[in-house]
Amino acid sequence: MDMQAPPSHAAPRLVPPVPVPPERELPTLRFIAAMRTNGIGCWPAAAYETPLRRRRLLGRTRFTVSDPDAVRRVLVDNASNYARTPITIRVLRPMLGDGLLISEGAAWRHQRRTLAPAFTPRAVEMLVPHILSASDEAVVALEREAAAGPVDLFTALQRLALEIAGRTMFSVGTARHGARLRGFLETYAGRLGRPHLSDVVVPLRFATPLDRARARFRRDWVAFLDTVIADRDQGQEERSGGEARDLLDLLRAARDPETGRGFSHEELRDQVATMILAGHETTAVTLLWACTLLALSPETQEAVAAEAERADKPFTRAAIEETMRLYPPAFVLARRALGPDSLAGEAVAAGDSVTISPWLLHRHRRLWQDPDAFDPGRFLPGAPPVPRFAYLPFGAGPRVCIGAAFALTEATLALSRIVGHFRLARADARPVLPAAVVTTQPDHAPAFRLTRR
Ligand code: HEM
Repeated sequence: MDMQAPPSHAAPRLVPPVPVPPERELPTLRFIAAMRTNGIGCWPAAAYETPLRRRRLLGRTRFTVSDPDAVRRVLVDNASNYARTPITIRVLRPMLGDGLLISEGAAWRHQRRTLAPAFTPRAVEMLVPHILSASDEAVVALEREAAAGPVDLFTALQRLALEIAGRTMFSVGTARHGARLRGFLETYAGRLGRPHLSDVVVPLRFATPLDRARARFRRDWVAFLDTVIADRDQGQEERSGGEARDLLDLLRAARDPETGRGFSHEELRDQVATMILAGHETTAVTLLWACTLLALSPETQEAVAAEAERADKPFTRAAIEETMRLYPPAFVLARRALGPDSLAGEAVAAGDSVTISPWLLHRHRRLWQDPDAFDPGRFLPGAPPVPRFAYLPFGAGPRVCIGAAFALTEATLALSRIVGHFRLARADARPVLPAAVVTTQPDHAPAFRLTRR
């Protein structure tokens, strides 16, 4: 197995704090409780050293796969044998409908083919002005806040990521609908979107009380999205020119290259919901962890600030990539085996659960040198390549994140704008620990001191 080269960055070694893993595999109920509060606490210390783990959970066999060849088999070589899990579908469908993230088979292929042109690097270029205008406005708002004292950067970054999602999708900011949108997202992230014991034990065909609450949520959510889309269309009609300006224009114009078919209104709405949900919180936590790491590593922060005025930003981008190694926003990729297979010498049966955890992979003792240390040098041009299938912030294979290029551009530019403008320092000494539920969140919103450069 190829090991990563030693850290090459000149800053003193920084090892940010992590929760202490349990010594042994957790018993079932504690395991399920951990999944609901902090999935990172599910894995015992040994999981960071072993290529594959197997356990029984509620009558089902569950594999955790950290062997790069086996990861490649699940996500790429034998990807059609591994589907989204019933829990993923149960929890996400009320929010995402039949959008790209949870669709399967022919419906997924049609959507993926149709959507792909909207996420090419050229299409992302078109979205850059939206990213920059939202970031600049966030900097102005932060300046006001910082003059009054320590700043809750997490809330500010969540707002920024949602503002960017709104502008890139609709060309307009979230001034009008932002408060309701945040309300929907908070209800979902705080309660309805969290896996519950009933999601695991009750078969999908029976509606649990939580399912019924999710169905009520969906009715309001769909009506809300329809209003936002109708409002945006009215606003856009008043503008002239037929050039695509935002993702909604691109999604409307998109046609399946094989069938010529575009999206119906309902399909379009589900894609809009999917892109907003898949894209904003993941980017917000990436930015928060990047700011937290840079506040702990002033030398690295200066290197990011030094690039702010430059057009190319290789170091800032490397800092984002290294942040996503230490705090992968999507901390698990969950699959259900459709048929038998063999992974790292173990027999997998139809119905088994197979989990790949970017969190475990990215900190695996056998795959990385000094895995817990923050070192953007690992990702600089010219550095030895990172181990294949051991670095998966965006997944891999046919279901790799469709927004990866967009997300990397967005996070790099937003971080550059913020760090180029302010010197970031923590306002207190309380360690920030990861607490992963759907994404890898901070366990509290840390206070930062922002000083203008
Ligand atoms: C730092 C930001 C982001 C991270 C870390 C991230 C991570 C991921 C990961 C790991 C997957 C694969 C999940 C799996 O295999 O089970 C995924 C899929 C997806 N992501 Fe992202 N994502 C980010 C931003 C975005 C953005 C900005 C968008 C859209 C605007 C987006 C849209 C999607 C969609 C639609 C899928 C499903 C693709 C499919 O199933 O074909 N993501 N993302």
